[in-house]
Amino acid sequence: QYPLPKPPTKEPKYHYYNETTGQYIDYYEIEIKSFQQQVYPGLKPAELVGYDGISPGPTFRMERGREAVVRFVNHGDKDISVHLHGSYSRAPFDGWAEDTTKKDEYKDYYYPNKQSARTLWYHDHAIHHTAENAYFGQAGFYILHDPAEDALNLPSGDYDVPLALASKQYNKDGTLFSPASETVSLYGDVIHVNGQPWPYFNVEPRKYRFRFLDTSISRAFKLYFEADTAVGKKIPFTMIASDAGLLTKPVTTDNLEISMAERWEAVVDFGAFAGKNITLRNSRKVQADEDYNSTDKVMKFVVGKTVTSQQGNGNLPSTLRTVPFPPNKAGVDRTFRFERQGGEWKVNGVTFADVKNRILAKPPRGQVEIWELQNGGGGWSHPVHIHLIDMQILSRTGARPVLEYEKVALKDVVLLGTSETVRVIARYAPWDGVYMFHCHNLIHEDHDMMAAFNVSSLGE
Ligand code: C2O
Ligand code: CU
Repeated sequence: QYPLPKPPTKEPKYHYYNETTGQYIDYYEIEIKSFQQQVYPGLKPAELVGYDGISPGPTFRMERGREAVVRFVNHGDKDISVHLHGSYSRAPFDGWAEDTTKKDEYKDYYYPNKQSARTLWYHDHAIHHTAENAYFGQAGFYILHDPAEDALNLPSGDYDVPLALASKQYNKDGTLFSPASETVSLYGDVIHVNGQPWPYFNVEPRKYRFRFLDTSISRAFKLYFEADTAVGKKIPFTMIASDAGLLTKPVTTDNLEISMAERWEAVVDFGAFAGKNITLRNSRKVQADEDYNSTDKVMKFVVGKTVTSQQGNGNLPSTLRTVPFPPNKAGVDRTFRFERQGGEWKVNGVTFADVKNRILAKPPRGQVEIWELQNGGGGWSHPVHIHLIDMQILSRTGARPVLEYEKVALKDVVLLGTSETVRVIARYAPWDGVYMFHCHNLIHEDHDMMAAFNVSSLGE
């Protein structure tokens, strides 16, 4: 077993003064380039392509209100497009799938960083190649901080740990199996955290903040902790934040359900487990995902005996923030069915290739709408991601109710489990523009289970 890798923090190259706003803008440069990772000793290394030649890419740590421009230079082998997932970026900087950057070209992306503190991630979004690009390495964390969250004194610094989960599959020679010819799903039998299969992580017997992200192509997780020796105590997740930042209040759970592209943050207290080993496990039979021998294990925590700092180790506040939920209303404004038809992945019978018909909604800017998302069946789950907006989950019918921690969260992706129907409410703002919404099973996405909506001051 190998230790948990920690992606380095990305530093700006320089900053410049924006005369219009009187503020500084940070300028960053990321090079997309190939690298090798020796996963199986004695076999061939895996050939990967990542942001700055690592995977996960370097972690951005941004302050709310400080704008950024990031230049992505493509020295990889495929066309790319970069989406900052969780940001209300203007449409030209949102990673539109067809807005690709060719080999040896670059594009500058502008990020406003004006939303409240949250865990975002940047990943590839190139038309028909998102699965390959993201899976071979193009995914990284982008963490937005703000003073309101800082004031809560949550575990920070070394006690604030991003954990990018992924499930992959290797060839016999040690290289990574390519998802390129998959048409349904790729579940993978090797669980990675921050790029390392089944790592261990040395922790102190105290509280940690973990930022979970599922970067898998097709695998959802239902996580729980298990101590290697029976200690007669459960180890819960105290949920504190979701895709769009802090929850209303902390919510304790023994099981954390997380599907592709979701971010869930939890405070975990190892205080009672000094000297013990704790395994983070994944349940069997999550949705319709395929299980393999070791897909029920994720990583191990080796709890030491000494605490070096008490920062953020006290009681959590009983409320975290006033979450800006949209005002509730009656009825359903639009209905979208995610369904496989005639071997194609469609939203309301349309694929993204159907250029004339793929704009399925034209919400007037600022309007609050309830969208009903339906899973058309067939045994697949579809994590539905709507760009631009934060949404509240109002209801879920089918196998699972709305989870307790989902009830106090704003989200940008929601899992439509096999044969579930979910209603979400959101304000379609703040910008005009054409944005994508799609299934975040990257095989479905690459096979055009993607559509668009056009926010405009005119509406329809
Ligand atoms: Cu995380 Cu449209 O993607
Ligand atoms: Cu799907």
